[in-house]
Amino acid sequence: MIDSAQLAALAARIGPVPRYTSYPTAPHFQPATDDRIWRGWLGDLPADSAFALYVHVPFCRQMCWYCGCNTQVLKSDGTLERFLGLLLREIDLAMPYLPAQPRMSGLHFGGGTPSILGSDGLQRVADKLYRRFRATPDAEIAIELDPRHFDAGLLPGLKALGINRASLGVQSLDETVQAAINRHQPLDMVARTADALRDAGIPSINLDLIYGLPGQTVENVIETVRASLALQPDRIALFGYAHVPWMKPHQARIDTAALPDTAARFAQEAAAAEVLIDAGYCRVGLDHFARPQDALAQQAAAGQLNRNFQGYTTEAGDMLLGFGPSAISTLPQGYAQNIPAVAPWRAAVEAGHLPVARMRAVTMEDRLRRAAIEQLMCHLQVNLADLAIRHGMAPRIFDADLPRLALLEEHGVVTRQGYRLQIAETGRPLVRQVCAAFDSYLQQQSAATPPRHAAA
Ligand SMILES: C[S@@+](CC[C@H](N)C(=O)[O-])C[C@H]1O[C@@H](n2cnc3c(N)ncnc32)[C@H](O)[C@@H]1O
Ligand code: SF4
Repeated sequence: MIDSAQLAALAARIGPVPRYTSYPTAPHFQPATDDRIWRGWLGDLPADSAFALYVHVPFCRQMCWYCGCNTQVLKSDGTLERFLGLLLREIDLAMPYLPAQPRMSGLHFGGGTPSILGSDGLQRVADKLYRRFRATPDAEIAIELDPRHFDAGLLPGLKALGINRASLGVQSLDETVQAAINRHQPLDMVARTADALRDAGIPSINLDLIYGLPGQTVENVIETVRASLALQPDRIALFGYAHVPWMKPHQARIDTAALPDTAARFAQEAAAAEVLIDAGYCRVGLDHFARPQDALAQQAAAGQLNRNFQGYTTEAGDMLLGFGPSAISTLPQGYAQNIPAVAPWRAAVEAGHLPVARMRAVTMEDRLRRAAIEQLMCHLQVNLADLAIRHGMAPRIFDADLPRLALLEEHGVVTRQGYRLQIAETGRPLVRQVCAAFDSYLQQQSAATPPRHAAA
């Protein structure tokens, strides 16, 4: 049994590690001089390829001080109208390069606050996509919603879009914490939103919670989790606050003296997880919980969970197409990230270019390492030898990595028999640290210049 203080000590000794929503991770993408390679990759895909689609809307009505997302406060409705026009144009620009009969395995509206586009705006985006992509029968159509800016007027539009999963930002329900993060949102407001969505027939509700925020304690995290459970969410995402003020200057408004230390963060995470497990939720990967009958829990139990830029997903395959500033796309050949800032993204689209800023082709070895990392992130275990052979490589490719696990093995975080690894349940919070042993770019980078990831 490893306690929070030991987890914190181990995390400190290993140092900051990425979140592994991709491999290679986004800092290792390279600047793209134009969209030619990306167009070529799209053109080489089979005619009936199935894509998960992601649409990023980088605007919010107000800024939460903890926010790590790519967003900004909306200054005028004119900006929004212009943005919508350009988003539709970006989709049009990609159309000629898509395979002949593309399918859509899922559609996710994220942000920012995607509902800021209103029912009509969302419908215009969806109509364009639905005209070209044929939805697979089990396609998940999801949207991130901010309960502070939800009104019942949106419901008919969400239903018309075919939304079957809504994700509500909750974070903390403690008033002191809410004041410290500039997000006032009483439980009532969240409950009304969840009830309205359910009454309208939207079957799956996810709540996002965060631990490690200023003023959070084990007690108020437990209270937030208990209050959230009363809303009977199908899924809960429990994220650790990432404090990166050098990337997100508004986070400088967070009082660092009020931030829990690493041991306290682990204690908050463990306490929240215990309440959720006691309530019958299944653990999914590093930071998700789902009711046993939910598809995410079932796929986790069946060893068929996947991970992409949106986190854990039931959608298989390595085809994700992202639209909007900062959106990341994945194809079998590699990754591409759109220009993150709105103004240069707009300029690229206006000039008729796919707004790709950074790309990364994946090698055979990247694919193998990505599969190992995904297995660990999703299922906490991996047979590296089997995986290597399936990728046409010799298991000894991992021999130089295995000694890096010594510290974690010594403390019982991970057990190893030859090339078989199993992360202990109490070691789950350090799954990213286990993955880091197989991240050759992180190892090269640490040798050159120390990386700057969230300390938390
Ligand atoms: C892209 S946001 C969209 C949700 C929606 N805008 C809202 O806030 O209600 C998705 C989630 O990311 C999480 N998040 C945002 N900033 C974070 C940070 N700095 N550290 C950890 N999680 C964060 C929050 O839980 C948030 O609900
Ligand atoms: S957490 Fe959500 S609502 Fe708050 S600023 Fe970030 S994207 Fe906007």
